[in-house]
Amino acid sequence: MDKLKFAVLPGDGIGPEVMAVALEVLARASEADGLTLEPVEADAGGIAIDRHGTALPEETLRICSESDAILFGSVGGPKWESLPPREQPERAALLPLRKHFSLFANLRPGLLYPELIDASPLKADRIPDGIDLVCIRELTGGLYFGQPKETRDLPGGDREAVDTMIYKKSEIELITDVAIATARSRKHRICSVDKANVLENSVLWRKTVTEYLAVHAPEIELTHMYVDNAAMQLARDPNQFDVILTENMFGDILSDEMAVICGSLGMLSSASLGTVENRHGHRFGLYEPAGGTAPDIAGKDLANPCAQVLSGAMMLRFSFGLEKLADRIEAAVRRTVVDGTRTGDIAFGGKSVGTREMGRAIANHL
Ligand code: IPM
Ligand code: MG
Repeated sequence: MDKLKFAVLPGDGIGPEVMAVALEVLARASEADGLTLEPVEADAGGIAIDRHGTALPEETLRICSESDAILFGSVGGPKWESLPPREQPERAALLPLRKHFSLFANLRPGLLYPELIDASPLKADRIPDGIDLVCIRELTGGLYFGQPKETRDLPGGDREAVDTMIYKKSEIELITDVAIATARSRKHRICSVDKANVLENSVLWRKTVTEYLAVHAPEIELTHMYVDNAAMQLARDPNQFDVILTENMFGDILSDEMAVICGSLGMLSSASLGTVENRHGHRFGLYEPAGGTAPDIAGKDLANPCAQVLSGAMMLRFSFGLEKLADRIEAAVRRTVVDGTRTGDIAFGGKSVGTREMGRAIANHL
């Protein structure tokens, strides 16, 4: 394998700036290993609405289908917020992409380097060694996609809206399998998060996860937690978790909480994987930072590019099998952030060296 072909969808807001940094770092890292990147850029999100009248043009889907992975920036912004909800970039680009490629498994690592404990809103004595956990979120089921999903008029002038939460046992088993693989590469502990005291979905979720682990991974320690308690426990003692396994909506909420306790949304990368194999015999996937388009700082060279770079590293690991290269990039990000914090150059919520300069620093640390 010498050519790594992936679709690049920078999107809106800070997306293009942080994507430029990620591509630069990936190119520098892979050229040292004799690998050539073949990024193919396409429009998605608000920019695609502006240029093509639709958030996810056919051409973009085609480019993605012909690639081995998708490196995604972020989509959305105030400019498109007045559109009907179904046409807004998030719902009309990102969600259909996830569904189209059956990207049912979303992996979000929550990592706070011990050197950066002060960046976390948690008190240092709660996280003396930093934070290290991962959230495995089911991504193509539940409330996000269940039908019916609509707003309707009622006789008498009232209106109602319905979203449907629906999970099949087979879907729960698929995502549980991903959690098992992840737990086996870590501390062999899974905490499955649900709301089984209220939701039928969660009752099935808990039963399925329990039975599946008993058969397929009896060596893994499994616990269950209600989602409200999990939200509290994350803020109280995040390191009680190793792998969090949960459904789509709960995972959306908990992963943002996880990001903030890890110091910055600008550090949270993610991988969304399906079952399809790409030409390299690895999983086709979509890789995106979880921080959003940050329109307030877009175009100002202020965005933290780390999450985009780390998402690129995840792409190398999961879609191209380049574990060592991914490790090298992750280590470079770590050294950059840690060094910068020591010298006061890179601050979380304080003085910043700027997006591009941070990119150069990461590349120099490779
Ligand atoms: C995320 C985001 C998306 C989600 C939005 C942009 C649709 O919040 O990836 O967590 O809710 O899944
Ligand atoms: Mg979210």
